[in-house]
Amino acid sequence: MGRLEPASIPRHVAIIPDGNGRWAESRGLARNEGHSRGTEVVREIVRAAHELGIKQLTIYAFSMENWDRPQDEIDAIMGLLSRYIRHETDELEKNGVRVQTIGRLDMLSPKLQRAIRGLEKRTAGNDEMLLIFALSYSGRSELVDAMRGIAREVESGRLDPEAIEEKDIREHLYAPDLPDPDLLIRTGVEHRISNFMLWQLAYTELWITDALWPDFTKRDLVDAIHAYQQRERRFGRTGAQVRKGS
Ligand code: FPP
Repeated sequence: MGRLEPASIPRHVAIIPDGNGRWAESRGLARNEGHSRGTEVVREIVRAAHELGIKQLTIYAFSMENWDRPQDEIDAIMGLLSRYIRHETDELEKNGVRVQTIGRLDMLSPKLQRAIRGLEKRTAGNDEMLLIFALSYSGRSELVDAMRGIAREVESGRLDPEAIEEKDIREHLYAPDLPDPDLLIRTGVEHRISNFMLWQLAYTELWITDALWPDFTKRDLVDAIHAYQQRERRFGRTGAQVRKGS
């Protein structure tokens, strides 16, 4: 672990944890076994991220498109989430982790919504690390919800359409104060964004691994951060400008 540069640990890391189903199928197990192992890995990686000094960690736990999966698989993932909340609250609390969620939570069962609200409330005073679960989330539905909010402000006369700037869109995202991810990790081979944080990923560094999520380890997280630390983030400027600090 010694090779990481402590001064340039990415502040916000986002993860698309893909490959639970394939991990299970390749072992002749039911897909839900993969989700179960995947939940363990969520627990391990949250702990590892905290140890590495990551300040914000966003995990894409359930997409809007995932609602189209077979009902028994949806039920299994929701059950794992409930169990995660029941079992992890104490440790999250102890480690100073604040938990928030982004997404259309009203689509979850009332019981699960209450459990999530309880976890958010219980950890609201923590400031060691912010852990965000994207649940019933898609980047496009987030933008649709933002547009609805902006349209309401225009309709009420509080906002002039000609005065709309990027900051107005940001202010209507689910977590307006959250800085954009510095690093996006995707496991499970595929090279795509899958409708995740479409606004926020504009200048995020991508790191994709063939490892399936249930096989992802702290070592892989360190490798991703190490690769990130070799990158030059130019945000559209030239390398010379960036190196001069202008
Ligand atoms: C992707 O694997 C994973 C999901 C759709 C669900 C993610 C769920 C977890 C990591 C566990 C639940 C989360 C918490 C916080 C308890 P996939 O099923 O798309 O895999 P495949 O591409 O191999 O089919």
